[in-house]
Amino acid sequence: MVDHRPIGVLDSGVGGLTVARELRNYLPNESIIYIGDNKNVPYGNRTEEEIAELARSMIDFLIQKDVKLVVVACNTVSTIIDKYFSDYDIPIVNIIKTAADYVVRNQLKEVGVIATKFTIATGAYDKLIKERDSSINIISEGSANLASLIDGANFTDQEVESLVDLHMTNILAKGDLKNIILGCTHYPIVADKFKERSPEINFIDPAYEEVMYVDRLLTEYDLRGYNEKSTFIIYTSGKKAAYRKMIDLLAMKEPDKIVEI
Ligand code: DGL
Repeated sequence: MVDHRPIGVLDSGVGGLTVARELRNYLPNESIIYIGDNKNVPYGNRTEEEIAELARSMIDFLIQKDVKLVVVACNTVSTIIDKYFSDYDIPIVNIIKTAADYVVRNQLKEVGVIATKFTIATGAYDKLIKERDSSINIISEGSANLASLIDGANFTDQEVESLVDLHMTNILAKGDLKNIILGCTHYPIVADKFKERSPEINFIDPAYEEVMYVDRLLTEYDLRGYNEKSTFIIYTSGKKAAYRKMIDLLAMKEPDKIVEI
C-alpha cells in the first residue's frame, strides 16, 4: 500500500528543523507538516503538566492535518510521551529512545548528555540507556538558556560560544568524555560551536537515528509514501522570520509554506 499522508514533526520551536532536515535528506518522498510552538519556548524550564498540555495541543493539531505518524523532534517532550501520550492510535516517535539505541549499538561505555534542565532532571536519558545496558555510565549537564538563545534567532557568535564553553567546562569537569549527545534538538543548529570548543569530542546528533527509526516504522506499519512532489509545510505560533534564518543556517531546501498560527 502507498500512504501519501504527511509525517508530522513537532518541537517547542526551531530545534525540530534539525530532525526535519534529516527527514528531507533520507526520506525525500515523504511530505512533512511541522509545528513549532515558538510562543511558548523554552519548554525545558516549564513544569511537566505545562509541557504535557502544550505538547498535546501540538499532537492534536498534527492529527487534524491527517498525519500518519508523529515524530517528536524534542527531547523535553519525549521525556513524557510514555506517561501522557499512549492513548493515540498512530505511532509517536521518541527521540531519546533512538539516541539510547545509538549508544548501545555503538557499544559506548560512557557518554555525556547536554540537554534542557527539564530533560536532565527527569533522568530520561539515564533510564532509557540503562534499561538497554546497565553498565553504561552517563554524565549529564542541564542548560536553562541555550535553547531559548538559539530559538530567538538573533544570537551573536559570542553569546553562543560563552554558553557552549560554560556547559562544556562543566560536563568535562565531571568526567573525561569522548562522546557527548546533543540532547536538545536546538543544539545541533550550533554544532560548529561545540566542535570548535572541543574538537576531540564526538558530538552525537540523535536526529539521524530518529529518522532511521522512522524509516523502519514506515515499513513495519505499511505507511510509506512515494510522493514525487513531496511538500514541507511549517506552522509556528511565533514568527516566520526565525524559520527563514534557521533554514539558511541549516542549508535546508526551502519549505513550501511557513504559516503563523
Ligand atoms: N528542542 C527541545 C529539546 O529537544 C527543547 C527546547 C526547549 O527548552 O523548549 O529538548
